Amino acid sequence: MRTQVAIIGAGPSGLLLGQLLDKAGIANVIVEQRSADYVLSRIRAGVLERTTVDLLAKVGVDARLRREGLVHDGTEIAFAGQMHRIDFKALTGHSVTVYGQTEVTRDLMEARAAAGGTTFYEAQGVTPVGFDGPSPSVRFRHEGRDVELQCDFIAGCDGFHGVCRASVPPSALQTYEKIYPFGWLGVLAEVPPVRDELIYARHERGFALCSQRSLTRSRYYLQVPTQERVGDWSDARFWEELRRRLPDDVARDLADGPSIEKSIAPLRSFVTEPMRFGRLFLAGDAAHIVPPTGAKGLNLAASDVGYLSEAFEARYGEKDDAGLDGYSARALARVWKAERFSWWFTSLMHRMPESGPFGARMQEAELAYILSSPAARQVLAENYVGLPL
Ligand code: FAD
Ligand code: PHB
Repeated sequence: MRTQVAIIGAGPSGLLLGQLLDKAGIANVIVEQRSADYVLSRIRAGVLERTTVDLLAKVGVDARLRREGLVHDGTEIAFAGQMHRIDFKALTGHSVTVYGQTEVTRDLMEARAAAGGTTFYEAQGVTPVGFDGPSPSVRFRHEGRDVELQCDFIAGCDGFHGVCRASVPPSALQTYEKIYPFGWLGVLAEVPPVRDELIYARHERGFALCSQRSLTRSRYYLQVPTQERVGDWSDARFWEELRRRLPDDVARDLADGPSIEKSIAPLRSFVTEPMRFGRLFLAGDAAHIVPPTGAKGLNLAASDVGYLSEAFEARYGEKDDAGLDGYSARALARVWKAERFSWWFTSLMHRMPESGPFGARMQEAELAYILSSPAARQVLAENYVGLPL
């Protein structure tokens, strides 16, 4: 079997790249180790930057997003019992769209099926080979048959634990990592969001986030120690702890109900350099991870494949390799800005067990300073809504 670009992974980065390449007339095949239902069952990100919305519009996968996505012109920061609004629209002229990663993935899967794109789900033993030479391929087993997919290039869109980054000789890559001593316990529930906008709450007991998926479905998170187990958190315990971390009037208005999903995600900052090795290009979580506080993970996955698809278009169209040669540097410039913002916002809003009482007071002083300074609010808003591509 042969294609032009073999894409490993059918998460948001792989599926969006597939649609962008289709649009440009570049043949591609996606190879995913899980089932489509499993991919759709993962509850993850919820906030889309305008550049992500624009890329989805470019491939014509924005109809439901325009109907059901919630446009947010600002966000709330709760601190010392008070709410402080950051007005994105007034400060930057831009908004963000609240629309779950699950929905983005579902829309992309449906568009791919409608366009007749080839995706191998439940592929076993997926292995990228020969990408340091002129004729790479992807080997895997599918429905009892061994498949060799020959291609010009491989796009590694297979997430943090994928096979692509792991297949590059370690000496060819430099990695940078910070593991935070806490995670986020997330709950999805069929209850109306407590406020129209998201609330990022700093509290002595730990960070909390009030997010949402629709006018009737909420997503809430609590900072918990890394070693915490989901089984130790009954719904009642979760709602009680969430109320303790929110300002009184917000806590009073919080509607609770049975959780539909409950999970703990560890927090990590991670970057691989470069994002290319021979004919293998890494994109999204395969190359970098941000802690979720800045809502950047899914958006970086989208901007990576936006850059990568432009580079493939130039290669197949004008026979120009400059885009492919510059891909890693271009993507990493954006990645490091998002890494800085995500790390800074995480450090500002979470209880940092290792930094002691002085660190906690410095956090409070810094938050008070940011909220009192129009320039600092603007910098926060600009980083949150995201840079142009
Ligand atoms: P992924 O979504 O990880 O997709 C990679 C795909 O590759 C998967 O479908 C996987 O099954 C497949 N794959 C893996 N290995 C192989 C293999 N060997 N062969 C074939 N296929 C393979 N971001 C936010 O902004 N906000 C959040 O709240 C948030 N919460 C998160 C919670 C968790 C638990 C995790 C893990 C991430 C979260 N993120 C969040 C980050 C965001 O979801 C990711 O940045 C985004 O999913 C990246 O998309 P991706 O397509 O690059 O990778
Ligand atoms: C979410 O809704 O899952 C979400 C929103 C904002 C974040 C992180 C996660 O910063």
